[in-house]
Amino acid sequence: MDEKYIKKMITIGRDFMKFSEEQENSDFESDQQLKKPQPPLTKAPMTDSRIDLPKNFEDLEIINDFTRILTERKSSRVYTQTPVTLLQLSYLLWATQGVKEIRGQNYATIRTVPSGGARHPFETYLVIQNVEGLENGCYHYLPMEHQLEYLHSFEEKNISITTTLVGQSWAEKAAVVFYWSIVPYRCEWRYGIFAHRPALMDIGHVGENLYLACAALELGTCGVAAYDGDSCAKVFGLDNKEEFMVYTSPVGCLK
Ligand SMILES: Cc1cc2nc3c(=O)[nH]c(=O)nc-3n(C[C@H](O)[C@H](O)[C@H](O)COP(=O)(O)O)c2cc1C
Repeated sequence: MDEKYIKKMITIGRDFMKFSEEQENSDFESDQQLKKPQPPLTKAPMTDSRIDLPKNFEDLEIINDFTRILTERKSSRVYTQTPVTLLQLSYLLWATQGVKEIRGQNYATIRTVPSGGARHPFETYLVIQNVEGLENGCYHYLPMEHQLEYLHSFEEKNISITTTLVGQSWAEKAAVVFYWSIVPYRCEWRYGIFAHRPALMDIGHVGENLYLACAALELGTCGVAAYDGDSCAKVFGLDNKEEFMVYTSPVGCLK
């Protein structure tokens, strides 16, 4: 690869990670400051095919010792073919994006994860392969309703999990793969040119909550940043501009 190109990309990457003086000293006003209408807190459902998720979390077999959870959290890339239960999946969705409260007149959601300015710019998509009581296929999580909507079969897209994760074929054995997209305008409305770094910090919280919830349920997961944005976008019908993939995590049973 051309050395000049590599240097240029490294500089762009580092500049993105820094607060630039140019940004700080700018007289930038966000769309919120300009009184433009707030975008919706979540993406509207795309289908009528809804599944209520159970919330009887008290019935889960769960490790309650937080120090043990921290000690046992690790990345797991080998999964048995034991199905994940619907209640376990429901818990993982709640732990990563669950809504606890709606503030103001739909001004913000307060969730199980923090998010800069409570913007929560993410959407959760799933490829389900082995979850008790759920047809295999592609799903979208509706956090306000704590429901899943069934989108379509995975096979019809003719793209493998391995392809979406740039050759990481170990993920094929996952019971469910979490794919998180970002709808950037949700945080740009408030923070504009300052929105993007905090958004990446936000997704780290989501991924960590999945790790911790999996550790508590003795399930395996592994954060995956090496994904192919284009094939993920094709699988879930994202436009790759106003909504695109930011992180993924396969989940499966360990015993
Ligand atoms: C942001 C992020 C991206 C990662 N991407 C990948 C990945 O693409 N493939 C992979 O096998 N592991 C990936 N991992 C897992 C790391 O390799 C793993 O966390 C690290 O080796 C430390 O192991 P531990 O999680 O068991 O402590 C990723 C982890 C994080 C937090």
